[in-house]
Amino acid sequence: MTKTKQQQLDDIQEQIIKDKTCPELAAQATQLVFGAGSADADIVLIGEAPGKNEDLKGEPFVGAAGKFLNEMLAMIGLKREDIYITNIVKYRPPNNRDPLPDEKSAFLPFLQKQIAIIKPKLIVTLGRHSTDVLLPGLKISQVHGEPKRAHGQVFLPLFHPAAALYNGDLRQTLIDDFAKIPLILEKI
Ligand code: URA
Repeated sequence: MTKTKQQQLDDIQEQIIKDKTCPELAAQATQLVFGAGSADADIVLIGEAPGKNEDLKGEPFVGAAGKFLNEMLAMIGLKREDIYITNIVKYRPPNNRDPLPDEKSAFLPFLQKQIAIIKPKLIVTLGRHSTDVLLPGLKISQVHGEPKRAHGQVFLPLFHPAAALYNGDLRQTLIDDFAKIPLILEKI
């Protein structure tokens, strides 16, 4: 019997553990933060790496940035269950330091498999790390809010909600960019 998308995602999650991906990060983290939401989603959002709250709960974007994200999703009539959300790096980096290039590379094949299983219409990259990994060469400050097509997939690079949370100008820019999602989806 063919496996459901969720079962296929579960297999990838197990594989990360079996492969001992980034053992130094794994040793310091509470748990793997693989991803959450609908395996059948039209939209996949990709952040940087889990923070403290995510590490404790095992779910991406459950802290202050996640709350802000939930508000923006509500603004466009969506709930967390309607989308799929994950990060490039799936263990919390110590003290929330930036993920290292090697760590991003180590997790990239798994992220690509997650995307290949879900087959979303739109991938939203949140912040410079996920934009850099999925749309190399593009600067978030220059391309935020502009849909980009690469390898037959549509991407929307956005500022990271944690960066925008306490910065008035960036916050409004992110809200305005986020509000474009329904129209972008409709046009795909
Ligand atoms: N920031 C991220 O990039 N990802 C999370 O899961 C939480 C905060």
